[in-house]
Amino acid sequence: TIKDTTIINIPKVHDERGSLAVIEKDAIPFAIKRVYYLYDVPSDSYRGGHAHKEQESVIIALSGSFEVIVDDGKLKKRITLNKPTQGLYIPTHIWREIDNFSSGAVCLVLASTNYNESEYVREYDDFLLSKR
Ligand code: TYD
Repeated sequence: TIKDTTIINIPKVHDERGSLAVIEKDAIPFAIKRVYYLYDVPSDSYRGGHAHKEQESVIIALSGSFEVIVDDGKLKKRITLNKPTQGLYIPTHIWREIDNFSSGAVCLVLASTNYNESEYVREYDDFLLSKR
């Protein structure tokens, strides 16, 4: 459920030369199989709009900000991501949408699976049916 979508704090090392954030294997609740990122996203763009049967994800605003709506079919919450040291963990079977991208925003996604269209749920009605 929505309660399982949690913020992961990513440790960082900061000094006068700048900041370095590091994600080690144990910081993430799954083994990372794939990394992808969204960039050059127009501010009025809407991304996501699907759930996953198998994929677990961690979403990070590497640069800029955007908002993620997570929905378990009963409850929804809107979370602003705007720090490269915060990751939003999203388990399977959670509908997600991403909007309000700032200019220059980069949305990094750590994923537990390889890309496989057949594990996507892209119709909201199918998502709700799968929850009953
Ligand atoms: P889409 O799922 O619509 O992106 P988002 O969830 O960010 O809105 O994916 C956009 C396109 O990219 C779609 O044609 C599928 C393709 N794609 C891949 O080929 N590999 C991948 O790892 C991902 C995530 C998407």
